[in-house]
Amino acid sequence: MKKLLISFAVIGVFSSISYGITREDLEKDPILKGKMLAKRCAWCHDINRDLLAPSFNAIIERYKSLPDNQFKNMVIKAIKDGSKGKWTKWMSKHIRTKLGKPEDMYMPSQKPYYNEKEMKLIADWLLSLKKNKE
Ligand code: HEC
Repeated sequence: MKKLLISFAVIGVFSSISYGITREDLEKDPILKGKMLAKRCAWCHDINRDLLAPSFNAIIERYKSLPDNQFKNMVIKAIKDGSKGKWTKWMSKHIRTKLGKPEDMYMPSQKPYYNEKEMKLIADWLLSLKKNKE
């Protein structure tokens, strides 16, 4: 049952993040590249829906007053170090999942999967989502 729930979550999330894109498109468009690199994040984060972790929009909302550079540093730090405890209270109100209790949920470091340049591209993509809301 647990496995089944996980695959439903993943299918749901991917539908909002993945697209048919050629290698050429990616070279021309760094923001698109960042978005593609963020596919791994979609195991837990959706853009709009709070599934297993706060949606990227919820994160943008919380940090909307941060200047661009600090916002990007916050994202890069989360990718490198992971994150624990900052969203527990928020998640207990917004996240409904049978996979675990909000107080047990945290973000493991994603450092093994990305180099510095890739982390920056992901941060740039998230910053572009933030800018679209301003
Ligand atoms: C295994 C699930 C999981 C994956 C994969 C994941 N995250 Fe997270 N993320 C979380 C959870 C849970 C939180 C809330 C943690 C907390 O309470 O501090 C979080 C929090 C965050 C935050 C907020 C940090 C803060 O300081 O408030 C950012 C930014 C973030 N994630 C970005 C990403 C990006 C970018 C990726 C992909 C490179 C990613 N996450 C992959 C689960 C995940």
